[in-house]
Amino acid sequence: KTPVAILLSGRGSNATALIEAARDPAFPARICLVLSNNPDAPGLDMARRAGLPAQAIDHRSFGKNREAHERAIDAALQAAGAEAVCLAGYMRLLTPYLTTAWAGRMLNIHPSLLPSFPGLHTHERALDAGVRLHGCTVHLVTEGMDEGPILGQAAVPVLPDDTADMLAARVLEQEHRLYPLALRHFLTQNPATAANGAALVVA
Ligand code: GAR
Repeated sequence: KTPVAILLSGRGSNATALIEAARDPAFPARICLVLSNNPDAPGLDMARRAGLPAQAIDHRSFGKNREAHERAIDAALQAAGAEAVCLAGYMRLLTPYLTTAWAGRMLNIHPSLLPSFPGLHTHERALDAGVRLHGCTVHLVTEGMDEGPILGQAAVPVLPDDTADMLAARVLEQEHRLYPLALRHFLTQNPATAANGAALVVA
């Protein structure tokens, strides 16, 4: 199994989905570390309850020095033997320091069908735009925010009376399905065929 670390900032429901998937002996990843910039993240407690190493590296201790924070994160990832990293609700923008160090080995989940609605408040923006399909995307992390190559997407309908919360809940259910599938796909795909754009679609 490939050792994979998870970075999160809050609730950790996507981290939970990954941890549960990794319990299956046939799943190609084991979670070697759950790391957060936020010492109070509920996701850290969840990971500890699951018996996993969980660690906070508080960005506030580094002042404005984002790279020093990322150097500390990188050191923790290396120490845990991580070979890939899944961002799961990690709400800090990354500098080129981490995106370069983990290029091609760092995944993110984003709550929209990229390239639509990068950034925050995706569900409100989808409703405002009047799109009829919305969803989530797992992609490789590059320097540009929410811009890297797409590994997989899952779509949901936007229903006539949806509120942002209702839509978010419908998307989140698919996030929890998509992320483990996309990680498995990423870890087991043949690089020769991946270049042909074999992204995963969860209908
Ligand atoms: C998820 O919806 C995830 O897609 C989103 O934050 C939420 C975290 O929830 N990520 C982003 O918006 C990244 N820009 P979780 O902590 O329960 O997994």
